Amino acid sequence: MIDGKKVLFSGMQSTGNLTLGNYLGALKNWVSLSDEYQCFYCVVDEHSITVRQDPATLRKRARSLLTLYIAAGIDPVKNVLYYQSHVSAHAELAWILNCYTYMGEMSRMTQFKDKSAKHADNINVGLFAYPVLMAADILLFQTDVVPVGIDQRQHLEITRDIAERFNGIYGDVFTIPEGYYGKVGAKIMSLQDPSKKMSKSDENPNGSIYLMDDRDTIIRKFKRAVTDSVGCIAYNDEQPGIHNLIDIYSACRGITPEEVVKEFDGRGYGEFKIAVGETVADMLASLQKEEARLTSEKAYIDGIIKENAERAAYYANKTLRKVQHKIGFPDRIR
Ligand code: TRP
Repeated sequence: MIDGKKVLFSGMQSTGNLTLGNYLGALKNWVSLSDEYQCFYCVVDEHSITVRQDPATLRKRARSLLTLYIAAGIDPVKNVLYYQSHVSAHAELAWILNCYTYMGEMSRMTQFKDKSAKHADNINVGLFAYPVLMAADILLFQTDVVPVGIDQRQHLEITRDIAERFNGIYGDVFTIPEGYYGKVGAKIMSLQDPSKKMSKSDENPNGSIYLMDDRDTIIRKFKRAVTDSVGCIAYNDEQPGIHNLIDIYSACRGITPEEVVKEFDGRGYGEFKIAVGETVADMLASLQKEEARLTSEKAYIDGIIKENAERAAYYANKTLRKVQHKIGFPDRIR
């Protein structure tokens, strides 16, 4: 608890271009969570180097992700927005937790199996230990809830296992975090293959709407979205393409899927696709405008980066010092 509020932690990698799925599934919801929780939103740049990165690009993208957090409406005073690499406690706790994590557990992680198949020429120890760093991220802040996608559920489970194991040896050191899996509608699928999640690493750029896409591109991609031959706008699993478009429209407009179905009752797919495209284009245009404005306010963003890293380090170091003491490292002389 911080100031009577439960603690929430989440992070995003800055690699690749963020998609509408990242925005509607994560960022947009992060804004509304900040009333109820004390939120820490991290740009997890240390996770990114488990895959080889170009230094200039990594730096640039980390900054634009942090700027985007703010552009999306996440208040940088109420919430703590920072780079993982600016708070050294992440790496320090990760090292300690490595010593309480088994090779066998890590080798069962499906993301490791997927990523090592994809990057067969660079299966490094960091890629293997990735979930331990994620556990450190979460446990450093005595986090109560972690909003993540289903694909991160296994990593959250291992975080809980590591925390319970540690607490079992040393007493109640860590809060055991719970997952917070977004409400229905938050999971946005590919426009070209509605059985697959919309992804920033999709080979087919028509499947994803990127947050920086321009209006014409957005509308063109929606016009080409894969649907079905039923010809009726209804919300069910037999029409996954239409289901996805309904989810997108409903998330953008803040209305229920049933209300969307009612609004488009008797209308054709073509008309519906254009309406969804225009709604998304309007929403992203204002996000892009705000991002551009903030990017030009260099000193303001610099100030946020500095202050928030200090705030994050304050809470993180409290946990780290406790852990170091518990495991028998010599106390610091003050
Ligand atoms: N592994 C997460 C992802 O790829 C990102 C992440 C890193 C994260 N540390 C975290 C998410 C801590 C939630 C909490 O999506």
